[in-house]
Amino acid sequence: PRVAVVFGGRSGEHAISCVTAAGVLRAIDRARYDVVPVGITRTGRWVLVEDDPARWEITDGQLPEVLAGTGSAEVLLPRATDDDGALTLVPGTVPSSLGTVDVVLPLLHGPYGEDGTVQGMLDLAGIRYVGAGVLASAVGMDKHYMKLVLAGQGVPVAPYVVLRPGQWERDPATWTATVEALGLPVFVKPARAGSSLGISRVDDLADLPAAVRAAQEHDPKVLVEAGVSGREIECAVLQGRDGAPPRTSVPGEIVVSDAGHTFYDFEAKYLDQDGVVLRCPADLPEEIAARVRDLAAQTFEAVGCEGLARVDTFVTGDGEVVVNEINTMPGFTPFSMYPRLWESSGLGYAELIDELLQLALA
Ligand code: DAL
Ligand code: MG
Repeated sequence: PRVAVVFGGRSGEHAISCVTAAGVLRAIDRARYDVVPVGITRTGRWVLVEDDPARWEITDGQLPEVLAGTGSAEVLLPRATDDDGALTLVPGTVPSSLGTVDVVLPLLHGPYGEDGTVQGMLDLAGIRYVGAGVLASAVGMDKHYMKLVLAGQGVPVAPYVVLRPGQWERDPATWTATVEALGLPVFVKPARAGSSLGISRVDDLADLPAAVRAAQEHDPKVLVEAGVSGREIECAVLQGRDGAPPRTSVPGEIVVSDAGHTFYDFEAKYLDQDGVVLRCPADLPEEIAARVRDLAAQTFEAVGCEGLARVDTFVTGDGEVVVNEINTMPGFTPFSMYPRLWESSGLGYAELIDELLQLALA
């Protein structure tokens, strides 16, 4: 089959998407799949790019970026800003100048990629793709609606406050009191972002206004979540074959050991991994591990996911499991939690890519 590997994109997680793509381009079974690497620039231009994993990795702390004009051709996909507004997609092609592709692997993280927008475009054009559809992607991207959807179906989530656009500015004193009632610390997050971009931990209410502003740089809607004191446990989910229930991996644990990080932030995730240990599998009592897996599968189904997802939870001292979030296109570099969890569960990186493509092609 011919696979368009699509990465980069307009979100703040552009570079992480490139690193994810590097891992996939390196590992995908070339005897089986014909790969078309397509990058999306930070401004939303689609370009045919180098099929060279090294080009898309982090080198000397330098984050990779898709640039227009470096690839061999500009791919013509619809952009709202195009003067002619031409829709160049026809069913089964991405786009006609690249010939037919059988499936798209949208390795995009964050808004304009992981949020249903690209998924909707591919649906419209009748192109198969890996992962969640429009609604599940949109719900997974928006931490506010994610919580409503999960809580509405009995999945435990931590208490939170939503600051809709403009609300904080109209009455900061009342909102500060509302946040105080959650109990400190709280985590202030853009509703729609990823990789911890724009997230602050607030231990002192005096720091709340700056934290809200930092989150608003990524999204006018902001979430303030009660900090759950517990272990950070993540579980990988894969859609079942032929209508079978979702498959879950062994759970893994994020242990932030470096005093320089007060939580698992962007730096700790990608630039200073020395301070972080990903423990796969996590050392958990059997019944807690089972509970995490069960909730991960429930979360996957509650959101209506397809293909893959990583469900992030907190396990408290008394063994309670709370779902923090779901990521419908989790980080997928060979050292990321998602593939590592499957590796620990007996499914290697290349096999995992193959399984995801087969699920989309089925
Ligand atoms: N948003 C990042 C890529 C993750 O969840 O892994
Ligand atoms: Mg996320």
